[in-house]
Amino acid sequence: MAKIAILGFGVVGSGVAEVLTQNKNIIEDKLSEEVEIKYILDLREFPDSPFSDLVIHDFNTILNDPEVNIVAEMMGGSHPAYDFSKAALLAGKSVVTSNKEVVANFGTELLSIAKEKGVAYLFEASVGGGIPIIRPICNDLSSNNIREINGILNGTTNYILTKMTTEGIDFDTVLKDAQDKGYAERNPAADVEGLDAARKIVILAALAFGKAISPSDIHVEGITNITTEDVELAGKLGYSVKLIGHSRLEGGKILAMVSPRLIPASNPLSSISDVFNGILLNGDMVGNVMFYGPGAGKLPTASAVCADIVDIVAHKNDSIKLPEFSLAADTDVADFDEYTCKRFFTFDKCAECTLTKEKAEKCFGQIEAFITEGNRAAVITAPMNEKTAAEINSRLNNCRSYRLL
Ligand code: HSE
Repeated sequence: MAKIAILGFGVVGSGVAEVLTQNKNIIEDKLSEEVEIKYILDLREFPDSPFSDLVIHDFNTILNDPEVNIVAEMMGGSHPAYDFSKAALLAGKSVVTSNKEVVANFGTELLSIAKEKGVAYLFEASVGGGIPIIRPICNDLSSNNIREINGILNGTTNYILTKMTTEGIDFDTVLKDAQDKGYAERNPAADVEGLDAARKIVILAALAFGKAISPSDIHVEGITNITTEDVELAGKLGYSVKLIGHSRLEGGKILAMVSPRLIPASNPLSSISDVFNGILLNGDMVGNVMFYGPGAGKLPTASAVCADIVDIVAHKNDSIKLPEFSLAADTDVADFDEYTCKRFFTFDKCAECTLTKEKAEKCFGQIEAFITEGNRAAVITAPMNEKTAAEINSRLNNCRSYRLL
């Protein structure tokens, strides 16, 4: 019998207990073995929960219990989640997690400890909620050189952008709604300022390119500066605006970043709405493949966590082998200033003169599209690098700029 300890009985932790209970039969049929939740670690009591008898408050009870062979870390945050995961692995227990903060910052070390101890450290739920993405990268695409990853990796911000643009609901109201639905992080700044997506693109890049960049070392912009006016102007030119995690190899070096992007209607990411995530991967043999599904929420995320538990029980710690990755050195990381793409600039129209395409070209160089609406104007430029875009931004009054995908 496999005995599980769940660390953290919040949204995802309680979801894991629910999935393991509700789908007990189907899981155990597959395993020919019982899976039992032995402990639930949390600071709180849950007197009304059917799992209240399992709640404990001392991690050492789990650590010192040889019967517990799998620890499901659903605490969120770096500490004590990292410390408990490390201690569990060192004690010879496998660990599964949805905690992208820990995986992005400490994954290299924890994977190496797991390997040394002959146990598993699995994190399918850390990226894309319920979407299978870690296994496909490591297994199904293993004969490819991954060339590029573009993903809508944060359910909360996609939900906010969708509701703001299609229903005109204001930012704070939609954010509260996303929190009530259990999509947002405990501190939702991590969602809306792009850090959650940064952690996820760093994890995908590490698996695809073999080097783990720290999330704090990549360019990250969230959605707080996006205005409905800009989204409307982009829409008129045929683009939707999404928060995109992007990573690729540039001359053998890894580029990774998170920012709002204009997505053309021809790109399948453009139609992904609400809490859904989508990850578009390009491999040199397979071409483009897209992974789509619920990117956050209790049961979808728990579904992915439980897949890792089933894998470990089924294969007795000889579960999926995640490729090893090492910490990226400065020389592994591409120069962000040189990153080049088309740009969408929106800015105040000059009150005294009529803005024409020719005048806009003097400021922006070659332009692909030009639109004015109310007191705003917008252009789509030819590709330019980050340095040039920053210079233009600083020259113009009330100018905002977005990258195109
Ligand atoms: N806050 C995260 C999101 C949860 O909204 O995507 C899933 O990782």
